[in-house]
Amino acid sequence: MTLAQKYENEAGKLTGISPSVSPGSVAWRSPSNIALIKYWGKRDFQLPQNPSLSFVLEESFTETSVEYRYRGNNGNTGSGNLKVDFMFEGQPNFVFDLRINAFLQKVAEFLPFISHFEFKIESRNSFPHSSGIASSASAMSSLALCLVSIEKDLFGTLKNDKDFFTKASFIARLGSGSAARSVYGDWSVWGKNKLIRGSTDEAAVNVNNELKPVFKSLADAILIVDSGKKEVSSSQGHKTMDGHPFASARYRQARENLEKLINAMVIGDEQSFISVVENEALSLHAMMISGNVGYSLLKEATWNIIGRIREFRMKSGLFLAFTLDAGPNVHLLYQLKDAEAIKPFIFSELLSLCENKHWIDDRIGKGPERLF
Ligand code: DP6
Repeated sequence: MTLAQKYENEAGKLTGISPSVSPGSVAWRSPSNIALIKYWGKRDFQLPQNPSLSFVLEESFTETSVEYRYRGNNGNTGSGNLKVDFMFEGQPNFVFDLRINAFLQKVAEFLPFISHFEFKIESRNSFPHSSGIASSASAMSSLALCLVSIEKDLFGTLKNDKDFFTKASFIARLGSGSAARSVYGDWSVWGKNKLIRGSTDEAAVNVNNELKPVFKSLADAILIVDSGKKEVSSSQGHKTMDGHPFASARYRQARENLEKLINAMVIGDEQSFISVVENEALSLHAMMISGNVGYSLLKEATWNIIGRIREFRMKSGLFLAFTLDAGPNVHLLYQLKDAEAIKPFIFSELLSLCENKHWIDDRIGKGPERLF
């Protein structure tokens, strides 16, 4: 049985609410993540064409609070009938409002109690909104964690952590694919593959236990080349993979890279880690360039930073690698124990290439936290 079937079957039990139920509130802080094996291309509803692997960040997160109040059932249980008041950083936000309403309508299939309540949702990011950091992963995972906590609080379900976080990941995925990987600490894999037992396209799984310690203490210097809104969003980008001339080769490459990367992380092979991570970053952007309507989100400064990182690696012999999100900013990965050698390099050679010398000094994170 798929997770969707399981949650659909269980949904019937998530409707019987006593009209005297007290109003309640819940809040979660949930991190953004950076994928090293990239999810790029979807099928059906929010299912990935290939598995992806990421770690969550520590400093880049969203905090979302949800207040809920029973508003009766009145036969109005249709998911098209939601009552939601949404504020982002203290202000109404029309674009986010639409996305959150669409998300809630979708997830009401699995969490039908949603249509019996009215909600006040407030969200804020730890990072500036236009810093170039993808906020959909942290935003959607923090909201999903709130909704699943409401289910747990009202119905006493999802008592064990595995059930709780699997459902949170499943729900988060329906809002944004990469959000599925933000409900756990450290490293997660989303997408069915041969190496990770229990992996599925419907939700992410945590993969910390298998990996060598060297990969558990990574720093991520996020070098902001351009903080502006992207010309092509990730959601539009995924669509360009439909009918892309290299799509099937890309999905095969991602699978092979996942195997190579996991093997490298299990045995502690830093050289293979670097070559797979950088190959994934550039392949992602190669897909954008070589699609039927090609485009590039990379800037001259992106290439200059990449060049300097590679040159510094050659000279210093240190373990450092770059990766890219669907944008021009560069994530420089290195070990926290090498910070003393790498930070002067960042300051003297990389910041002059960043927009207003802007960077975020981040690292691998412990994962989401319930605030109340
Ligand atoms: C390049 O998760 O933002 O960051 O599912 O449409 O919300 P939607 O897309 P999104 O895509 C992320 C793409 C990526 C790679 C990754 O995070 O795996």
